[in-house]
Amino acid sequence: MSKIFDLKNIDKKELELEYMKDAAQDIKDGKLVIFPTETVYGIGANGLDEEATKSIFIAKGRAQDNPLILHVSNMEMVEKIAQNISKLEYKLMERFWPGPFTIILNRKEIVPNIVTGGLDTVGIRMPSNFIANQLISLSNTPIAAPSANISGRPSGTNVEDIINELKDKVDCIIDGGETEIGLESTVVRVIDGIPHILRPGKITAEQIKEVSNNVIIDKHILGEIQENQKVMSPGMKYRHYAPDAKCIMVYSRDDNKMIDKILELAKDYENPLIMCFREHKENFKKYKIIEVGSKINLDEISKNLFKDLRQVNFEKPDIVLIEGVDKDGIGLAIMNRLIRACDHNYIEL
Ligand code: TXA
Ligand code: MG
Repeated sequence: MSKIFDLKNIDKKELELEYMKDAAQDIKDGKLVIFPTETVYGIGANGLDEEATKSIFIAKGRAQDNPLILHVSNMEMVEKIAQNISKLEYKLMERFWPGPFTIILNRKEIVPNIVTGGLDTVGIRMPSNFIANQLISLSNTPIAAPSANISGRPSGTNVEDIINELKDKVDCIIDGGETEIGLESTVVRVIDGIPHILRPGKITAEQIKEVSNNVIIDKHILGEIQENQKVMSPGMKYRHYAPDAKCIMVYSRDDNKMIDKILELAKDYENPLIMCFREHKENFKKYKIIEVGSKINLDEISKNLFKDLRQVNFEKPDIVLIEGVDKDGIGLAIMNRLIRACDHNYIEL
């Protein structure tokens, strides 16, 4: 059982620093620390220590070719691990850091191969969460941290969910309460002067376009990936977020069409579970539902999405029917996670 530091109450400033120093010492000693960020929780280890980063893969059951993001607290750390950084890349970091934005840069030798999955690039992010930032500063090293979950499961957004999955696999858990955004960071790689979004998140295509005039959304974000197909980000290939039961997502800009289709599909099953907007729940009152939030508040939906997806298994449905959202802004990130949760069983009307 790992030690758990409760830092939900921000009044405990003095005590906090003691806890933070203790957790940072664990990082320096090559141990694993689960910590909050503004997106989701991460399982952290010293990102320049090969053995320590190896133990992250073991704890998560993660495929070795799926690289880790290095989390930094200042630009010196970036320059220690990356090279040949272009003006546009600096501009993007300046604009979106600290925050939910990961940039893929050319790596330096100092980064262990295991962190990059053998690639010649490295993913880097400067989180804005106070605890994350302090942990990196006190550890005085970039911290490698994938999302805190067993591989394939929804990312951990609160310590209760994380304890169930990972308590025996790490040395320390810092509880900073529920994460603010709830979806993982936007991952971007600049190719030939154009930012490509490899994973959508809170930083949207629209925002990136304000910096670069141009942005490309990788086609695999919403599309299916064939076996052995080459992708720009290994994480795209893996099954993710899926509940045990079969899931189907239905989306239409016309709410009535979406509701009618879900009602029609539900008839064929004994125990359907419907993930729907608060505004639509009256339409589904014959069935078990999980209310995902208000249709007009996508931030609320993204914040709760992974908790909702975890909840599905407790209800033991024989089918899960999910209402889709418009793909604008953070809606693209929500749809990317839902399409993967549904294993591409997706009906657009
Ligand atoms: O918000 C986040 O990004 C969270 C928090 C903890 O910071 N972290 C996170 O890490 O989501 P992870 O490991 O679950 O997802 C990282 C994604 C994976 O899809 C991985 O394939 C991709 O980033 N990635 C990492 N390094 C890469 C690289 N060098 N080239 C391409 N893709 C990379
Ligand atoms: Mg992950």
